[in-house]
Amino acid sequence: TYIVTEACIKCKYTDCVEVCPVDCFYEGDNMLVIHPDECIDCGVCEPECPPEAILPDTDPQADQWLSLNRDFSETWPNITRKKDAPADADSHKGEENKYEKYFS
Ligand code: SF4
Ligand code: F3S
Repeated sequence: TYIVTEACIKCKYTDCVEVCPVDCFYEGDNMLVIHPDECIDCGVCEPECPPEAILPDTDPQADQWLSLNRDFSETWPNITRKKDAPADADSHKGEENKYEKYFS
C-alpha cells in the first residue's frame, strides 16, 4: 500500500486524488490519508504530489504513518476531486516537524 506522510500537512494540494483509480483518499482539516486496505498499490499518485508526501509503506520513512492513515481513513470523509490548496500551502512545503506543530 501507499500512505500519506507528514509533508502533506498544511499543503494539501490534492493532485493525488484526481489520479487514484479506486478513490481511496480521505480528507482531514490539515492533510489527506490513504485507506491502506483500499489502495491497490498502483503507485500513480506518488509522483503527482508536489511535496512528495506519498510513499510506499515499504519506505522506512513511511512506517510511523501507516497506523495514522488507517485510523483516520475510517472516520474522515472520502475526497475524489481536486480542490484549491490552502492559500499558504507553498509556505509550508518542505517545512520540518509539521506533525508536532500543527497536528497533535
Ligand atoms: Fe490510489 Fe494507486 Fe495511490 Fe493507492 S497507489 S492511493 S490506489 S493512486
Ligand atoms: Fe497531500 Fe500531496 Fe495529495 S500534499 S493532498 S498528498 S498531492
